[in-house]
Amino acid sequence: HETNPCAIVLFGATGDLAQRKILPTLAHLIHDHPQPETICIVAFARRPLGDEGWRAMVLESLDKYMAADDKLDDKGKQAFAQRLFYCQSNFDEDAGYQRLGQLLDTLDKEQHTGGNRLFYLATPPDTDAEIIEHLGKAGLAQPPKQNGNGKKSWVRIITEKPFGHDLASARSLNAQIGKVFHEDQIFRIDHYMGKETVQNIVAFRFANSIMEPLWNQKYIDHIQITVAESLGIENRAEYYETSGAIKDIVQNHVMQILSLIAMEAPADFSANDIRDEKVKVLRAICALTPEQVQERTVRGQYVAGEQDGKHVVGYKEEKGVSPQSTTETYVALKLFIENWRWADVPVYIRTGKHLPKRSTEVMVQFKRVPHQLYKPEQMKDLQPNRLILRIQPDEGIDLKIGAKVPGAANDLATIDLNASYKTVFGIELPEAYERLIADCIVGDSTLFIRRDEIEESWRIIDSITDTWKKMDPNTVYPYAAGTWGPEEADKLIQRDGRDWVNP
Ligand code: BG6
Repeated sequence: HETNPCAIVLFGATGDLAQRKILPTLAHLIHDHPQPETICIVAFARRPLGDEGWRAMVLESLDKYMAADDKLDDKGKQAFAQRLFYCQSNFDEDAGYQRLGQLLDTLDKEQHTGGNRLFYLATPPDTDAEIIEHLGKAGLAQPPKQNGNGKKSWVRIITEKPFGHDLASARSLNAQIGKVFHEDQIFRIDHYMGKETVQNIVAFRFANSIMEPLWNQKYIDHIQITVAESLGIENRAEYYETSGAIKDIVQNHVMQILSLIAMEAPADFSANDIRDEKVKVLRAICALTPEQVQERTVRGQYVAGEQDGKHVVGYKEEKGVSPQSTTETYVALKLFIENWRWADVPVYIRTGKHLPKRSTEVMVQFKRVPHQLYKPEQMKDLQPNRLILRIQPDEGIDLKIGAKVPGAANDLATIDLNASYKTVFGIELPEAYERLIADCIVGDSTLFIRRDEIEESWRIIDSITDTWKKMDPNTVYPYAAGTWGPEEADKLIQRDGRDWVNP
């Protein structure tokens, strides 16, 4: 990766996401940077910590959240701590942003950050608009006139999910950011786009000639996208209660995966060409009518159960969750992409917390052969042709094909052509966040979500949640933690003569 000097200003620096994910990622990024001394991380936060207090806090959480065998040793962590600076302020305090501006100017001079600024909003969504407005007011959305090196400098902003909570709020946030920053300065993050296996969907489709001719409604029977999590809500009740599975996972991660699976070949790899094609997929997904929501979606909520031999409490008993909560921790749904390539090919989506295992997969099931030569009894062990893109864990690709079982009976069985990233490439896959932040620093927005993509996906989600709000809360079906979701989800797909294929 090419790299740039810069100051990264972290909002929400003392929060869970920053401590758990972003700071360890930044520590790695700086460690791998050819000139680590030209990168500074500035926390903009309320607590009276000061540089030293902030450094101590980060060192502690690096110890907590990094694996014991992490490539970053104590010396590396100490070196990282020296790159950390603190600006104490409330988010709504004009003078605080003035102080931030002065600090950034000083860092340009003393630490050679080159006038390049990356504002990273890892904040609760309701504070984003306020921070952005203040950045604009303080003149921080544009590069400084003096940057000490005579080169052109840049200012960019990363916003974390959730980006709004419905179409109206996403639009209004887009409009507010748009008043202060130009679209090419805005990097809306979806960490799934930083995953190697998600990026590989594009390579798999467009670097091979054998798949693309089959990749359409003529040959594909249906698609399943599963994002199964074994974890629960992990102390995030406050957020999760406002979100539920559909907003937490489907609106962002699943829609991104689906766009890549279904898009047309882009003219080239430029950020806008790729995103033009992705957004066309979303546009082709019609809003669901209330009747369709009733037929094509199933909500679930976990109740007490057992997972990996351990007792798990029900969602309603989780700390911070209302005992009357109707928040879905599981959702299954069926969508159609209404265009030439995908007409009448159902896409079945499901995601849930406390499912039997952690696994994200895309399963593409092909149609049957046009004329069947084999007798039913010869095909007892034959499954349809299936292609499985294993996004995580055990990253890899599986192709299920029919083969003759040795012997005189002419029986068929399904065999598995299986490639695993680990065996093929023999390396640990890089952390999704590291790739994305590095891309932002060099100004590549290909893997970030454009304004129209966000709004299109909320349009689809709104059509579902609008109807859910009016539906009987008893249609949020219970499922025991550690199982594959409520029975109703099985019925949803079985009505079409199909079945979920569990990872
Ligand atoms: C986040 C969700 O966006 O993605 C979490 O808010 C979820 O609830 C997480 O656990 C899953 O990410 P990953 O990379 O572990 O699949």
